Amino acid sequence: MSTTAREAHLTIDPAFRVAPVRRRTFGTFVEHLGRCVYTGIYEPGHPSADEDGFRRDVLDLTRELGVSTVRYPGGNFVSGYRWEDGVGPRERRPRRLDLAWHSTETNEVGVDEFVAWCRKAGVEPMMAVNLGTRGIAEAVDLLEYCNHPSGTALSDRRIANGAKQPHDIRMWCLGNEMDGFWQTGHKTAREYGRLAAETARAMRMVDPDLELVACGSSGSSMPTFGAWEAEVLEHTYDVVDLVSCHAYYEEKDGDLGSFLACSTDMEYFIRSVVATADHVGARLKSRKRIDISFDEWNIWYLSRHQAAEPPRDWPVAPPLLEDHYHLADAVALGGLIITLVRNSDRVTAASLAQLVNVIAPIMTEPGGRAWRQTTFHPFAQASRYASGEVLRVEPVSPSYETAEYGEVPLLHAVATRADDGGVTVFAVNRSTDGPLSLEIDARALGGVRVTGATTLTDADVYARNTADQPDRVAPRANPHVEQDPLRVLLPPVSWNVIHLG
Ligand code: AHR
Repeated sequence: MSTTAREAHLTIDPAFRVAPVRRRTFGTFVEHLGRCVYTGIYEPGHPSADEDGFRRDVLDLTRELGVSTVRYPGGNFVSGYRWEDGVGPRERRPRRLDLAWHSTETNEVGVDEFVAWCRKAGVEPMMAVNLGTRGIAEAVDLLEYCNHPSGTALSDRRIANGAKQPHDIRMWCLGNEMDGFWQTGHKTAREYGRLAAETARAMRMVDPDLELVACGSSGSSMPTFGAWEAEVLEHTYDVVDLVSCHAYYEEKDGDLGSFLACSTDMEYFIRSVVATADHVGARLKSRKRIDISFDEWNIWYLSRHQAAEPPRDWPVAPPLLEDHYHLADAVALGGLIITLVRNSDRVTAASLAQLVNVIAPIMTEPGGRAWRQTTFHPFAQASRYASGEVLRVEPVSPSYETAEYGEVPLLHAVATRADDGGVTVFAVNRSTDGPLSLEIDARALGGVRVTGATTLTDADVYARNTADQPDRVAPRANPHVEQDPLRVLLPPVSWNVIHLG
């Protein structure tokens, strides 16, 4: 073990329970945007395409990623979407201008195909309704089409279109990012709060057991942040279950230290929304609790996207927002996962935005290969190994100074305890200049050993995976493990998974 490594500690005690691990934390997102749907999940001419035109290679990677829910069809796209365009015989489906992404939508894939894809992928669909250009009637129609068993015009239309069984979609987003000026049909908090409340009430008349998500803020730096949630929840508190948070992070001006600490903002975001929701609940004298659906989060080099020339034509499925992630992106993303899991008492659902090609863990070539980006790995490992209960670990760690967040600990960690008693620690070393020697006090677990440890790291923090080198950055066994006391060496800029049993 290196003698130069700085020391960090954490204590694991099964009594320090936070909440159950929420499977829905491991959700993602498929939007009609760029090549996410077309040449992403769907490409009829592809060598791996199945009888419905879905890419089997992408289905396999989606299963390997361990995805629980998939949000659909947007995103900004949903705020101009007419769901009826995407059902029925394909040859009769209209081509439409998609204002959000300046593209042409062919409507070859719609809700029935998406749900069919979800069943094949083994994921739960999560649907968004258009509250930008449309309203209550269209939301209720879509719900009736999807969930009503039969015997009405819309449910029978679904059956005629080949879906005999109801789609039975439980989670519904009431619009998307309605606080954003970029959103088609952008609204004030009052306008949106009233519309969301009435839409929710009507939807519950069709199906009282829905789980409904009101739009929160598109980021913690939005000028209306806090006030937006308060006003929207004043209107919707009784009729929704969750409020959304959206957050994207990127390395700016070469400030890697701040970037690796970006989960500090996510933590602040979650705490602020929880406090606001609880405050509204108290004012309304309600015992009900509103949880968080963090239904868009990721690393996104948004400033590069904003600097790019807007398209002049209306292409079909152009390559848009195709960020190629490096090791540091994966480590920052791992930190965000740790924060989501640490807050499982109030964050009960989340969606990594997005799944394929568009700021995504999975990349594809049209007609060609599919591969795992660096960011695939922390998500897949956390989804695979986080089970049972979340344990608070409160690490004690050296810290470093960041321009954006001030003093931040080098170590960021959480643990989960499976039903069989096995504990897994997820840990990020944010240090750019040295390893951390992590000592784990697991006396409360009684004589456990480190049964395995992996690390995701690279000598080059900007190393990427490509179609030709798909496994350049992947988790490898960590050989630097000691058993007495339990100690694991975490390389600089690394995501780590440590198993105790
Ligand atoms: O995920 C990309 C876009 O980011 C979504 O369409 C939108 O909701 C957000 O601004």
